[in-house]
Amino acid sequence: MHGIWSWISDTNRQVIVDFLRSKLKVGGVLYISYNTLPGWATFAPMRHLMTEHAQVLGSEGGGIVNRINGAMDFAEKLLATNPAYSRANPLVGDRLTKMQAHSRDYLAHEYFNRDWHPMHFATMAEWLEGAKVQFACSANYLDHIDVINLSPEQQIFLKDIPDAMFRETTRDFMVNQQFRKDYWVKGARQLNTLDQTDAMRAQKVILTSPRADVSLKLQGAVGEVSLSEGVYGPILDALASHQPMTLGQLEQATQDKGVSLAQIMQAAMVLTGAGHLALVQADAVVQAAKPKTDKINAHIMHKSRGSNEVSYLASPVTGGGVTVNRFQQLFLMAMGQGLKEPAQWAAFVWDILNQQSQKLVKGGETIESDEGNLAELSAQAAEFQVKVLPVLKALHIA
Ligand SMILES: C[S@@+](CC[C@H](N)C(=O)[O-])C[C@H]1O[C@@H](n2cnc3c(N)ncnc32)[C@H](O)[C@@H]1O
Repeated sequence: MHGIWSWISDTNRQVIVDFLRSKLKVGGVLYISYNTLPGWATFAPMRHLMTEHAQVLGSEGGGIVNRINGAMDFAEKLLATNPAYSRANPLVGDRLTKMQAHSRDYLAHEYFNRDWHPMHFATMAEWLEGAKVQFACSANYLDHIDVINLSPEQQIFLKDIPDAMFRETTRDFMVNQQFRKDYWVKGARQLNTLDQTDAMRAQKVILTSPRADVSLKLQGAVGEVSLSEGVYGPILDALASHQPMTLGQLEQATQDKGVSLAQIMQAAMVLTGAGHLALVQADAVVQAAKPKTDKINAHIMHKSRGSNEVSYLASPVTGGGVTVNRFQQLFLMAMGQGLKEPAQWAAFVWDILNQQSQKLVKGGETIESDEGNLAELSAQAAEFQVKVLPVLKALHIA
């Protein structure tokens, strides 16, 4: 349940809790994400003001986009008067500026819903007691790596808190948590260490970024963190061909470099959290999913001839979406029609764009000439062939 809980009424939250209580099996897992506190505490009054403005002063006939623009404009003018509110909460202006950069469609469903209720973790736990589920862990992989998120002092402070739930509440203050993504389980039971290690060794993963694009620098709440070349180098080398491998196979492949299973497990969490690695489904699941992902991908690619609305395709290997931009989708379409060379893919795409009087934009400037557009598309197609295509093949998208 992604992006639902904070945007509905108490009555509808109760409907969800009742549904979970009666339908979720014992051992079943609930994924839920929601806006939380203290991260939203300073901006919540501003969001309230803007929705009030949209309701009171925005004319119904003006449409949601006009109402949003009017409300944002009003908020900026208010801040320009240097009110005590923004002096007490100096980051509010920054957040408003960041909001301005989003599309109005996004802002409409993110901020201008009737309901918008950031909730403390502890309040969430009270709600979900009714569903008979217990908190398992954060679904955000990087949350599990303390050194990225917490100073040594904060780690010690948290370790001294005996109650796991209260520890989460306190941790939210340390990172000024704004959005939580959590797993809750009905009838959670913990694996013993041996079973856990076996399960981890059997977990298959796939590298979804070109090896050369994986940075060993990571931006965490505590600042920039450097990942160890001695550990990550051999792991990334073993995964560089984008063939799925189990963590056990990775352990064997990196043994002579002195990489331990514990290091592999942590690297798998970090790389997955950073978006470079994905979990791989069982072969039978991949095969069963392939006809369906082919079908939806063909549909999305067909749509992308006329718009860049959906820049994702589905992978049967991971069971998830992969970022593939409009031009890349059209290159794939060209390949599907038997065109073999990047220059041909570029010509195929230029033909589609040209029919709609569309032109490429580079560095903020529109490319006017046919040759210029073709040259830019050819460069993109050549890069696509080398960097992206091997990944999309491994993901059974291409
Ligand atoms: C922040 S958006 C998230 C959209 C999507 N789930 C996602 O994660 O991208 C919140 C969504 O909740 C929907 N919503 C709010 N109240 C609802 C209701 N009573 N019934 C169905 N949808 C509702 C809104 O239309 C909005 O799209």
